[in-house]
Amino acid sequence: MKDEKVLVLDFGGQYNQLIARRVRECNVYCEVHPYNMSIEKIKEFNPKGIIFTGGPNSVFEEDSPHINPEVFKLGYPILGICYGCQTIGHALGGSVTHAPKSEYGKTAIEVTKTNSLLFDGVSANTNVWMSHTDYVSKAPQGFEITAKSKTCPIAAMEDTKNKIYGVQYHPEVMHTDEGMKMISNFVLKVCGCHGLWKMDDFVKTTVEELRKKIGNGKVLCALSGGVDSSVAAVLLSKAVGKQLTCVFVDHGLLRKNEGDEVESVFGPNGNYELNFVRVNAQERFYKKLEGVTEPERKRKIIGEEFIRVFEDEAKKIGKVDFLAQGTIYPDVIESGLGKSATIKSHHNVGGLPDVVDFKEIVEPLRLLFKDEVRKVGLELGIPDYLVYRQPFPGPGLGIRIIGAVTAEKVKIVQEADAIYREEIANAGIKGIGQYFAALTNMQSVGVMGDGRTYDYAIALRAVMTSDFMTADWARIPYDVLDKVSRRIVNEVKGVNRVLYDCTSKPPATIEFE
Ligand code: XMP
Repeated sequence: MKDEKVLVLDFGGQYNQLIARRVRECNVYCEVHPYNMSIEKIKEFNPKGIIFTGGPNSVFEEDSPHINPEVFKLGYPILGICYGCQTIGHALGGSVTHAPKSEYGKTAIEVTKTNSLLFDGVSANTNVWMSHTDYVSKAPQGFEITAKSKTCPIAAMEDTKNKIYGVQYHPEVMHTDEGMKMISNFVLKVCGCHGLWKMDDFVKTTVEELRKKIGNGKVLCALSGGVDSSVAAVLLSKAVGKQLTCVFVDHGLLRKNEGDEVESVFGPNGNYELNFVRVNAQERFYKKLEGVTEPERKRKIIGEEFIRVFEDEAKKIGKVDFLAQGTIYPDVIESGLGKSATIKSHHNVGGLPDVVDFKEIVEPLRLLFKDEVRKVGLELGIPDYLVYRQPFPGPGLGIRIIGAVTAEKVKIVQEADAIYREEIANAGIKGIGQYFAALTNMQSVGVMGDGRTYDYAIALRAVMTSDFMTADWARIPYDVLDKVSRRIVNEVKGVNRVLYDCTSKPPATIEFE
């Protein structure tokens, strides 16, 4: 029963991996495959049920993806979502109509068949997320209409005899209030899955797959100490042990003690069997950054130097067969969008492939979301402080020091940041998306003891966010800020003023540069 699987057939919609993720949330294994997966392959996959995703097309277009009608004869329960619902209507002899105006956004529907398994436990009037132009206007023979909205006469339909269900809206997105209930009804009640799959099964299957793929090959992994690359590295070490070499570049722009923390987990005295190379490249980076003040220039320099250092180390290792990356699903979609304006040129360890001579890339976390990666990390026994680490940008403190970077300024911001983090932890504050100290390039007059000071101002930033695209500034209690501020000016030499940043994003960004 642990092997029960749901198959998601992809018609090109933007929420496809989200559907897969919702199925995994029901503790059922799930994979996404192209809509035209062959009948033999579907049978071989042996799913307990199939979900057809949404998609950007219209069934009326000639080259639209259409489901092979043979799929309906296999007898698996089917749920069609949005375009997936229309393709069912079209294939089974119903009618699909092109609406003059698209329906988009939160919509109230009324469940008209209250004893429908799909709507078991769902309120009779509930909000769903619509995003469509076409809609099924006449259900195919054998189907009952189970929900409607003001503008959509068939918001949901079902053929219980053949276990085929269709919904015009998107139950997978969080704007559909009871969407998770509907998906779990389909997976557990209609398909009859038992929900026994767990993340440790993901670990087991992934380790087996990695072993098969890598064989006796050598793998190189750029380890940043962030959660994604750490989890990828541990999975690989479990799969191929010493065939894996992890290169960790300390560019001198890490948080206080971070380099040692990463080394203590992954290094020779750490918890895992792998080859670990720590490159202490601080001086190289500081030299390259000398006198550079323009943020984008700093980012480019740090990114390029990172690649140079990595390249030098890779050369020492010799030919590698596989380059491992901790790419996770949101990285995959973000890099696919490509058209938005460049606000900041993001640098992370994802940009290395062309500097190393290798055969193939392995990305074991490619289909997971961040919180799923964290679950895998815990399953693998990675320490909590690594698993729950807040995001840290590739260029590190280089972009939290406004203006030119020097070793002295790095030290100041490291110390201030460590105090800030310590006091947030002491106060037991949880749920802040990201928080850190930055060094403004401003020096101002102060008085300490009986003397005049002319020192730097530290800025504290803390934001509430879950997507990091928009953020609100966090209302940290005054007494916590007071303590942090006192400690910083007392304990960090070179600082005589502490400022708190109360700007949201937009218009500001989270990082300072
Ligand atoms: P901004 O400053 O653009 O940051 O509001 C949004 C999120 O992205 C992180 N960030 C980076 N992450 N490489 C990364 O891997 C980068 O170059 C980079 N720049 C910003 C930032 O910390 C925040 O979480």
